[in-house]
Amino acid sequence: MAPPVSRILISPEALQAGVARLGRQITSDYRERDLVLVGILKGALFFLADLARAVSLPLEIGFIGLSSYGASTETSGAVRITHPLDTRIEGRDVLIVEDIVDSGLTLDHLLRLLSAQRPRSLNACALLHKPTRRRVSVPLPYVGFTIEDVFVVGYGLDLDQKYRNLPYIGVIEKAPPSPPPSG
Ligand code: IMP
Ligand code: MG
Repeated sequence: MAPPVSRILISPEALQAGVARLGRQITSDYRERDLVLVGILKGALFFLADLARAVSLPLEIGFIGLSSYGASTETSGAVRITHPLDTRIEGRDVLIVEDIVDSGLTLDHLLRLLSAQRPRSLNACALLHKPTRRRVSVPLPYVGFTIEDVFVVGYGLDLDQKYRNLPYIGVIEKAPPSPPPSG
């Protein structure tokens, strides 16, 4: 079945160019540091894999599983840990790697959670952000692409766990409200 993507927002080539730019920025900012990339499962999977290879520094990779959405396109506000952080971060330079920052609730929650483990520094890098939907203000020094308020899938991002493997970022039109029963 064809994915219900109405248009391609970011092509594979543009994604790689954005990741390369972030990689250069991180490489110059984290020289002589003890860098740990903490990827948020599962959405950051492909982004983290490409970003880590675009950073020319020794680094460590950790994962944490968080889930903020149920099977819908709107945030519930509740953040659940589905996989505990598998890396020691105390005294280290942690960069959270997130697929998309939308309301900001997930990142806000994670920043509090990880700062309790006393990293030396804590920052965040998101492939995408939707600033018009922000509900809490979060520091986000590294952003790949700023996008409008649309629901997107691909390159790790899902709709009900599907379409993560699309090689581009595509827009899914929200389903129109169902028409009233006629009769
Ligand atoms: P936030 O807590 O509202 O910032 O949402 C962050 C999480 O919601 C992301 O890590 C994604 O898993 C999910 N999300 C937000 N917007 C989208 C989207 O357009 N497509 C797919 N997932 C999204
Ligand atoms: Mg998701």
